[in-house]
Amino acid sequence: MTGIIFIKMNYQNQKVAKTAELLKKRLAELDEKSQILRAVELKALFEEIKTLPAEQRSRFGKEVNQLREELEAAVRSARDDTEQLPPIDVTAPFDINTPAGQRPKLLPSEQGSQHPLMTELEQILDIFYRMGFTAVESREIDDDFNMFGALNFPEGHPARDDYDTFMTVQKDKKGKQFIAPAHTSTMQNRVLKQLKPNLKAGKPIAAVIPGRVFRNEDLDARHEHTFYQLEGIYVDKGVNAGHLIATLKTFLQEYYGKELEVMTQPFYFPFTEPSFEFALSCPFCDKKGCHICSQTGWIELLGCGLIHPNVLHQAGIDTNEYTGFAWGGGIDRLVMMKYGIEDVRNFHSGKLDFLRQFS
Ligand code: DAH
Repeated sequence: MTGIIFIKMNYQNQKVAKTAELLKKRLAELDEKSQILRAVELKALFEEIKTLPAEQRSRFGKEVNQLREELEAAVRSARDDTEQLPPIDVTAPFDINTPAGQRPKLLPSEQGSQHPLMTELEQILDIFYRMGFTAVESREIDDDFNMFGALNFPEGHPARDDYDTFMTVQKDKKGKQFIAPAHTSTMQNRVLKQLKPNLKAGKPIAAVIPGRVFRNEDLDARHEHTFYQLEGIYVDKGVNAGHLIATLKTFLQEYYGKELEVMTQPFYFPFTEPSFEFALSCPFCDKKGCHICSQTGWIELLGCGLIHPNVLHQAGIDTNEYTGFAWGGGIDRLVMMKYGIEDVRNFHSGKLDFLRQFS
């Protein structure tokens, strides 16, 4: 626990000073901080007050009371740090008690427009619906199991470092902090379990999962701490890498409205085997080389592969019968390439002259 604040107290009485030191140390280790106020050592000090001669009693009693106050304040400060945080009402645009003239000026809704990423997402999803996929929304807070465990990242595995993101102070029942997901793959286990009945009914699991993701990044024109990804999962009998490549190629050609070439290179993800990095010929310059593709003619777009058997097992899917593919890639990236947008930060900056170009 990092957030305990102690008022600095100096106790004249040796016994009180020693007990103070002991109890503060113990407090740092306690899960339930308020237990410290019931410590036998503190109780003993209070008992002792009565036994002292009158001339010592008031001084001693004052210090013991001060110690209790110090501990109470420390307990309060620790609590403030965690579960006592007031919930934020995200639907409240302003404090309704604010006088009318001082309220923030909000744009009338008829002057607003859909965000370009959401307009594009609708088109993207529409293509996948026509290809037989269903869409499931991702979530913005998740747990260690879905972020790592279910995706075949063992505890302490170095690959976890590639997904450096934000965590809450609060912990789940297993004592792990909650996580702002660094990728939409956190949804794989849930979606596999949810759609597993499809397989019994002789239908594939075919889902796309759009969602907002978070990373601890150094920000520049290509990197944001918050962006959108689209995850895809497909499981059935006899699925192979050819199906994966054909699916992604069909989608991309439909989205960019032109014939494209695609290329895969071996890569590593714990949750796929084999894993690939998927590149497409630059839709901007048709492989001639331009500033969008850094003169290479190719754009590395996303990660993909055949779903690792351990990931399917975690969801209770029989890997002797079924195989599947998955992919995950940035939606912002896809849209930037479509319109030649050079700075990803434009999307989330609230710059109206940028946003209005798309409405
Ligand atoms: N989650 C990976 C990332 O954000 C991308 C990815 C790779 C997703 C392979 C997948 C996959 O579903 O199979 O870096």
